[in-house]
Formats: sequence, structure tokens, C-alpha cells
Amino acid sequence: MSETREWQGGWTAREPIQLGHVSMPADAGNWAPSARAGVESRDLGLIGASDGAMSVAHLRSADGAEGGGWQRHDLDFQFLYVTGGSVTIEQPGGDPVELGEGAVVHRTGGGWHRELSFSPGFEAYEITSPARFSTETAEGPGEDDSRTEISFDLPEAYERGAGPRKFFDYRDLGTMEPTDGRVHIHVVKATGEPGDGTGWHYHTMAQWFLILSGDSHIRVEDGPNTPLLPGDTMCVGYGPGQRHNVAPFSGDYAVLEMCVPAIYETTATEPPENAQPGLPGARE
Ligand SMILES: [Fe+2]
Repeated sequence: MSETREWQGGWTAREPIQLGHVSMPADAGNWAPSARAGVESRDLGLIGASDGAMSVAHLRSADGAEGGGWQRHDLDFQFLYVTGGSVTIEQPGGDPVELGEGAVVHRTGGGWHRELSFSPGFEAYEITSPARFSTETAEGPGEDDSRTEISFDLPEAYERGAGPRKFFDYRDLGTMEPTDGRVHIHVVKATGEPGDGTGWHYHTMAQWFLILSGDSHIRVEDGPNTPLLPGDTMCVGYGPGQRHNVAPFSGDYAVLEMCVPAIYETTATEPPENAQPGLPGARE
């Protein structure tokens, strides 16, 4: 990997931020007005779980909204994944691009951009690092050395087994290289056949994920057996203190997953001694 660009808080892939365990079902949390007029936002708990190093927010606009002017943020990383309706954005020197369901834009280094409009039913998930930042506005875009990438949810974007599990299809959303290995985000999809689950394991990374479709259950350590249904989100922390087991999943199971750092190891492990019996993920 090339020279590592410095991020606020000084964290790197080798010395990553720590993310704690958060369970945030689809109907939990509080909707509030966002910095974007006509768009509401729901904090998914990562600001607290990362000590402000990262935010993950759910955005929505029932009626649609006008966008704003040219702007840039004092950010190291900004990522948007659209799950409903669309947003039309513009980058310096480019034509407007409409991002519909499954489309992604991410940018490092707080580059200039503008959002032209949000369609009715717009819905998206936004990740930023750090969580809090300032915004500069201008009549037109200036020069910057940021890097922006856009991708769409196309069948050819998926590769079978291109991740830790041979039985899933993976769509790499391209954040690993621009973030110098700090953040990897991908879509993980079952391939039509229901699966047995992962077995108990832990990782040398923290992961945040959003259920896009299908259903499963997860247990983290001796915590409750938690259903995973579309719109549910969770963060599971680093290391053997955050053992977890994803129980049988449906054939249409799909998740958006962020891993911090991008490169990590997974270790299969025994279930916790006190896992409750009789439920998926229990000790046999
Ligand atoms: Fe895992």
C-alpha cells in the first residue's frame, strides 16, 4: 500500500479505532432533521460506540427535497449507500449522476460536491469519519486532491467466495485502497440456497452491518438471540470478547458490511459457556 494519508485522531489500519457492540433494530432510535433540508436522519449508535471517530446514519426523505449548492466537508471519509428512491449528485468537472437503489458514492479527503435533488422515498445509509465535521460552501467547486468513486448494483459486480465465506457472493465497494486499509465495505449475499450459518467465531476487526434482505439470527457472546431482518443494523466489536454466531440464514439473505480495519483474521471458537440452549446459536 502507498503512503498512508493522515486521518483525524491519528488512526490507521494498523492502529484502528475501536467500535463497541451496538444493536439497532430498524424501528429503534430517533429521527431528527439533518443538515440536508427536507431529509431526516437517524443515528445508528456508532458515534457513541466509536467515541466520535465515526458516524453511521440512516437518511430518508418521504416527499423528496431540493439539494444544496457546492460544498465540501472537513472529513477524512464519507460514504453513501442508497436503499430507496434516488439522489442526484454532481462532482467537479462531471455530469450529474442519479444514484438509485444499491448505488454507492464514497470520497476521501472532503472533496467538493453538490447534491442536486432527492427523490420522494429517498433512503440511504451514510458513514462518515470523523462523526462531527464542518462544511464549507462556495458558488463553484475549487481545487482539491480528494478521491471520489461511484458504483452501481450490477450483477457483474458480485463475485462468489470473494470474502471470508465461500458460500456468499461479494460486491466490493472499493473503499479499502482509498482509505489505506482502514475501512472495507462490501455487500454480502446468499446465493439463493438457505445456509447453516457461520458457527461461533471472532475477528481481528470490528464490523458494522445492515440487513438488506432475507433473515437470520445472531448471538454475540451470552447476549440475546437477536433476529436479523431487513433494516436492522448492528456493530460487533473486535476480538475474542465479541464471539458471535450467525445462525441459519435464508436464501435471499444480504447485508451491507463495513470492516475496520479492512484486512483481518477470523478465528473459529467454542461457544460461550453460558449461551442459552434451545435457540439458534446455542451451545450444542
Ligand atoms: Fe463474523
